[in-house]
Formats: sequence, C-alpha cells, structure tokens
Amino acid sequence: MTEYRIRQHPILPIEPREEVEFHWNGHRLVAKQGEMIASALFANGVRIFGHHPKDNAPQGIFCANGQCAQCLVLADGVPVKSCMTQVRPGMRVESVDGLPELPKVEEVSPLYETRTIAVPVLIIGGGPAGMSAAVQLAKSGIKVLLVDDKTRLGGKLVLQTHRFFGSIDAVHAGTRGIDIATLLEREVHDVGNIDVWLNSTALAVFSDQKIGILRGGDTYTLVEPQVLLVATGAREKSLVFRGNTLPGVYG
Ligand code: FES
Repeated sequence: MTEYRIRQHPILPIEPREEVEFHWNGHRLVAKQGEMIASALFANGVRIFGHHPKDNAPQGIFCANGQCAQCLVLADGVPVKSCMTQVRPGMRVESVDGLPELPKVEEVSPLYETRTIAVPVLIIGGGPAGMSAAVQLAKSGIKVLLVDDKTRLGGKLVLQTHRFFGSIDAVHAGTRGIDIATLLEREVHDVGNIDVWLNSTALAVFSDQKIGILRGGDTYTLVEPQVLLVATGAREKSLVFRGNTLPGVYG
C-alpha cells in the first residue's frame, strides 16, 4: 500500500517515533507510536472507513476532533471513534459497514467499582476557557478538578497553527494556537491546586447534581462538585448539502 505520511511540515515539528504494526481489514499496516487510528489509516492511503447503514454512503473523517462519530471503526471488536483512539500494537481494526455489532457483554472488560468523590469545583473541558478558569480559581486557593476527553489539554487550540490576533495580554496575540495551548497547559500544571483527568468523558449530570465521568475507558467515577463549570467550547456549524458527509469533505 502506498504511504501518504507527511514527513515535513512548514510549522509543526515531526518528532521521530517508533513504528507499531496493526491490522486493517486483515492487512498488516504500520503506524507511529501514539498515533490515532484515523491518522494511521490516512498515512496508509485509506480514506473510506466504512459505509452508512441507511444509504451505504462511504464514511471517513469529518471533524477529526471526536465530535461527529463519522470515523467509526471496530478496534479489537469494539466500536470506537478512530480519530480519538490510539493505535495499539497488534490492534485489529475493521471497517464498519452498516451498523456495528455490539460486543457480547461477557467480552467487554468490566468497569472498576464506582466511587464517589466530592470536589469544590469541577470543570468539564480543558480548552482555553476551561484552563483559564481553572488557573484563576487555583490562584484564589480553590481546588479544581479539570476533565477533558482528549489525550492532552488545549481543546481546539491544538488544531490551530495560525498566529492569534488582538491583545497580547488577553489572548497571546502573535502566538500560534498550538503554542498557546502549551503555555496554558504549563500554567495549569505549575499553579498547583488543579487535578487534571485526561481521556475522561463526562457522561451525565444527574438530578442529584453528581456527574458521571468515565476515565480512561474503564473507570467510572461519580463526582459531586460544589460548583460545576461547563467549558465544552464551540463547534463549527456544518453546511448542509448533498454529499456533505462523504470522505474528503471536512467540517
Ligand atoms: S469523531 Fe472522528 S471524524 Fe468526527
């Protein structure tokens, strides 16, 4: 299979990484350590990840940011968003044609026992708003739990290679979005008082004000905050037109 991997980028450094093998519909392919399944498939020239159950339309990457589920694949038998799931060595990745079959209950690894924790402030979303709020609260001596479903903090900033404009003091004008993410991330870690949970999805806000959070895919925790701050950010509105979900159209 031809390789389409980007080896040079005008802005982003490309660090050398070890190679790992995985399987796509039975074919052996090579990915980079820590790479998302979708990136590894693209690097190997695969653009179509499956077909829609209603009209059999090809499906692939649309948002590349975990928001749409159009990049669904089966990874070792489990349906996952390929743009959000890292390749593991030896992983069996299969296309989803129609509706994926759910794995048998007995084949799914059990969740660890649910525990409940109380925190002064829970912030859902580790983008610029969530991180800035966390830092300000922490500076005032308030302990914060900051959760995000990605593998690093930064939210949409990590997708932005352009330099920001406006005020240097307020929004780091002149600095690239991805570098602002790193600056804010450093502040979060340096200020103390902030507990960060990555790979953690807030699944529900219950009527008793507890929030169910799935951490790392296998640990479920009920968080009882005195204050809940939702900083899940913005999402671009996609235009509706025929074929707007086909691979090669991004939103
Ligand atoms: S969730 Fe993966 S492309 Fe949208």
